[in-house]
This record gives sequence, structure tokens and C-alpha cells, in this order.
Amino acid sequence: MLNKKSVEDIDVNGKRVLVRCDFNVPFDKVTGEISSDKRIVESLKTINYLIDNNAKVILCSHIGKTGQNKSLEKVAKRLSELLRKNVAFAKEIVSNETKDMVDELKCGEVLLLENTRMYEEEEKNDLEFAKKLASFADIFVNDAFGSAHRAHASTEGVTHFLPSVCGFLIKKEIDALDGGINNPKRPLLAIVGGSKVSSKIDVLNNLLDKVDTLIIGGAMTYTFVKAQGGRIGNSLCEDDKLQVAADILNKGLEKEVRILLPVDNVVAKEMTEEAETMVTNVNEVPEGYMGLDIGPKTIELFKQEIEVANTIVWNGPVGVFEVNKFATGTKEIATAMANSNAVTIIGGGDSAAAVEKFGLEDKMSHVSTGGGASLEFMEGKSLPGIEALEDK
Ligand code: 3PG
Repeated sequence: MLNKKSVEDIDVNGKRVLVRCDFNVPFDKVTGEISSDKRIVESLKTINYLIDNNAKVILCSHIGKTGQNKSLEKVAKRLSELLRKNVAFAKEIVSNETKDMVDELKCGEVLLLENTRMYEEEEKNDLEFAKKLASFADIFVNDAFGSAHRAHASTEGVTHFLPSVCGFLIKKEIDALDGGINNPKRPLLAIVGGSKVSSKIDVLNNLLDKVDTLIIGGAMTYTFVKAQGGRIGNSLCEDDKLQVAADILNKGLEKEVRILLPVDNVVAKEMTEEAETMVTNVNEVPEGYMGLDIGPKTIELFKQEIEVANTIVWNGPVGVFEVNKFATGTKEIATAMANSNAVTIIGGGDSAAAVEKFGLEDKMSHVSTGGGASLEFMEGKSLPGIEALEDK
């Protein structure tokens, strides 16, 4: 459970409240419009609470990377539609015009500041910049779960100057992730996929201390298969991580955690919709072929585990789900989770995108809005944007 003060623990009536959201939303490459407004929708509860409790609401967020200079203007428009009220937009953060807009803000009104990453001071956690942001407000509310692993000026720096609490989204995320991993209804099953062992070492090691069963899928399977002496053809493999993979398998034995790897897979010479595919044993991939999805026997095996689990945590797809031809395994896993009675927790990033693609979001107990943040949480790390908030 999150042991930090929340927006409900302070008096916001008549106060200027700076809210850090994660409005880092994706845009459609063709239309240029927002392609998923999930992160905006998830921020509404906190914003509406502040409006209803007579606060002056000043929102800030990053979008894209420093140097890309992406604008939040379209987010202001979408937010305005969702809130059914005007959201003023300040085109700069550090300017007299913005200061005037803040000074003129009335109770119940909402102002969104431009992308914090338009200022290089943001990622440097520059305290002067943080102080400038803080000067707009009396209270700071962090609701940007997706950015909670970043110690930036608008997530951590600002907490040095204002009373700082969390919003409803951060509370919901931590309660779900912490409950699922640290206080689960057992048996606890984790499904970890993705392409690289190197990016999941800490997650796998941390989860091995918590789970009853661990399923490994995705391209990182092949580093494990090769470590056990299997033939993996041209499948993706991190040769410098073979020992790490072997150590993880040994740790599973020591901890008496069942680790399940795929037994068969869908292989092809190329990763395209037109590619000719075949199913082979996972440790008998022919030369010239690469494993791109789990096979039918593996789907059945993994489904049986999903059926008997009472809590399931999923991070990382089990195949190249972006290409329909190799999406079956990921879709079957997502569907089995959606149909199970277990508590189902999707750890953001690619797995959240997969669940969204298959239209199964509403059937999961929790789909995280954070990619990197949920990954770091699953690694057992503390998140600076949350650590910096006031304790209860
Ligand atoms: C995300 O998309 O995961 C968050 O918005 C954080 O973005 P970042 O990785 O660019 O800091």
C-alpha cells in the first residue's frame, strides 16, 4: 500500500495546485492526431477532484524527448473535450505572459503549461527551474506515474519547494502493482517477455523472490534456450548473457520457483506478414530461421498455468505481436488472462499496447500507464517521483 499523503489528505480549497501529469501520449503518424488518450483519461479523476474542491488547477507534463520540442497543445484540446470545460494553454513556462495567466486563474479553472522538456533544465533537475515552476502554486500534486522513475525538475525538484502529495492515479498504480507483487493472492504467476534478457535481468531476479511460477517468453527465450544447449537458428540471442540466463534458471531451482520456457515456436526467415512460417521445437530452430512467436503446444501449456493462478503479473509480449502473423501467442495469453478469475496486472509499455490492440483492457484488473516506471517498480527499485512526496 502506498504510504504517501494524497490529494485527499490536504485542503485544496482556493489554493493554486500544480499537478504533474504524464501526458506523453502517442500520435498517429498519418493524421497527426492523438492515437491513444489513455493517459489523459487516467488523469481526469485527480483533475476533476481539484475542480470540484475549488482549486486553481495548473497542469504540467513532458511529451517526447528533450530537443524534439513537441507541443502539448493537442493534449489541452483533448483534455478540454474530456472535462467538458475550457482548458487554457500557456505556450511557454518561463514567461511573464504565463505568470499573468496563472495570476488570473480563478477557482475551478484549468491551465496546462507547455512541454516541460522544451527546457533542458527539466531533465537536469535544475533547482532554479523547479523553483520557477513551484512559484506558480501553493501545493504540488504528482500524478504522473509514467514519469515517477525520473528525478526531473517537474517530478522531484519541485517537491523541495512545495507541500507535495500524490494524485489518484499514482495511488491506484502503486496499490495495484504493490498488491499484485508483494501481497498477492497465491499462486502468483509472472509472465515476462520481450526481446532482451539484458533489459529484464533485474525484473527476473526480483520476481524470482516473489512468484510461485515464472513464464519466460518473447525473443529473450532464445538466450535461455542456447544457454541450455538448444539450436536456435537465427533467433535473437545475447551471447554475452548466456551465463546470466543460466544463473536465473539456477536461482529458480534454488528458490523452488517453477520456470517455464516455451516448448515450441513459430519460426520464419523474415519478420513480415508475407513470411512463410512453420512450427518447430523451441530448441530445434533450423539455420536461417528465427523464432517469432510461441507455438500451439506452448500456448496450451501457458494457458493451463494462467487457469490455476490467482494473481498474474505480465510484462512483455511473448511474440512479435505488432506483425499479425506472429501475434497469435500474445493474443491467446492476453485472452486467457482476460477470461481468468485471477487478479490480472499488466505492467505497461508493450504488454499494455498489446492488450489495447486486442481490445481487452477493460477485462484486466489493472493496466499500468507506465512503461519504464512499472518496469523499475517490478525490479524492486524505489521511484524518485514518489519517494519525494510527503509520508502519511
Ligand atoms: C513513458 O512514456 O514511459 C513516460 O512518459 C516516460 O517517458 P521517458 O522515458 O521519455 O522519460
